[in-house]
Amino acid sequence: MSQIRGRFKKAADKLAAEYTASIPFDWWLYPYDIAGSIAHARMLAKQKIISSKEAEAIIKGLKSIQKEIGQDKFKFKPELEDIHMAIEARLMEKVGKVGGKLHTARSRNDQVALDLRLFARDAISSTIAELRDFQHALISLAEASKKVIIPGYTHLQPAQPVLLAHHLLAYFEMLQRDVDRFSDCFERTDVMPLGSGALAGVAYNVDRQFLAKELGFSRVSRNSVDAVSDRDFVIEYEAAASLCMMHLSRLAEEIILWSSAEFNFVELDEAYATGSSIMPQKKNPDVAELARGKAGRVYGNLMALLTTMKALPLSYNRDMQEDKEGFFDTADTLLSTLEVFTGMVRTLKVKAENTRRTLEKGYILATDLADYLVKKGEAFRTAHDIVAKLVSYAMGKGKAFSELSMAEYKKFSSRFGEDVYSITVESSIAARNVVGGTAPKQVARALAAAKKSIGARGGN
Ligand code: ARG
Repeated sequence: MSQIRGRFKKAADKLAAEYTASIPFDWWLYPYDIAGSIAHARMLAKQKIISSKEAEAIIKGLKSIQKEIGQDKFKFKPELEDIHMAIEARLMEKVGKVGGKLHTARSRNDQVALDLRLFARDAISSTIAELRDFQHALISLAEASKKVIIPGYTHLQPAQPVLLAHHLLAYFEMLQRDVDRFSDCFERTDVMPLGSGALAGVAYNVDRQFLAKELGFSRVSRNSVDAVSDRDFVIEYEAAASLCMMHLSRLAEEIILWSSAEFNFVELDEAYATGSSIMPQKKNPDVAELARGKAGRVYGNLMALLTTMKALPLSYNRDMQEDKEGFFDTADTLLSTLEVFTGMVRTLKVKAENTRRTLEKGYILATDLADYLVKKGEAFRTAHDIVAKLVSYAMGKGKAFSELSMAEYKKFSSRFGEDVYSITVESSIAARNVVGGTAPKQVARALAAAKKSIGARGGN
């Protein structure tokens, strides 16, 4: 058996055959293709469309093919076009003509839709498990650095002090939304398309519910034309992956900044850093940089598939074969990025002395000074003005707030008293005692809630 040539008199042009083949990348779907075929053969026998003996021979053949591929003993021939044809051809070699009964009541169009959904379900489950592991790593780092205060930034300018744990929990929240998005994507992926045939359904008394149950799907597709045309679930995975990579790229960027000599807030474990071939002093954050870079290719895969699907007439079109490489690549990229980030974050060393030093240098407590004046009866806008002038004055003198004398304070507002010296980064964060704020009490509560929400490590 070679490519299906049916009514043609000529063999396919070699280049055309290569151009249209998907076997170089869709062989990856083999375990799903075989699982789908085994379930299909069982269903055909149950419905007496083929005999039980025939089904047994087919299933035995399929299982031995699975082994052959698993052990790298399978010869993939490009002329066989795709994984579905490759397995079917090998089945005929192994069990003879009866192998040709497997494709009864089935088309490659519903077959490939099934394979892809089976793959997607696994990819989603693995992604959620990796996201959970990474959330655990973030919580561990947050707990280990519970007391560490960092400058919080807006516009990358020091803004207000925050607990590092609070900052890390911001990523926990992003990842939680990612988990929710992937779970939601699972819902729409969890639909069994077999029985849709080429596009119109099949002319046999098939049992689609049985197939769904055999393959662990919670429901069957409602419309055969849609079932063979739909790649929304792939696009949804790629969209969720793009968002997740965007989140990871922001953390990557912060790790890159924070490990620079200028910030020096964290130190990467040597296992997650690389040296330079020319500059011996370098310790480069390549893992974080590559994650930042790989976000681009994951977005690219999403754009590519959206564009492929745009304006495609119903139902199946060969264009849709282009869904696979990007999908596999995205799943691969996201899973490996999550895995390596988990290790990188688990081993990250926080340099609390340095974060402390930066806090003391600037005027990060300016808002707190304004709030102080408000509490003494000043209107916030006026207080803001007074402190702005005070900052400008202190900068001119090269002094920190704590180094200004009472007389100097009094020049700007008579409301300043000795208690102004008790404003510290600690009092600043403790004051932000609102739900979702950075006060230690709130962060401890948020940490406990985060831990509880994801359960024990390794669980889901
Ligand atoms: N290799 C094809 C794909 O990936 C399988 C379906 C082919 N169906 C067809 N009628 N040519 O989309």
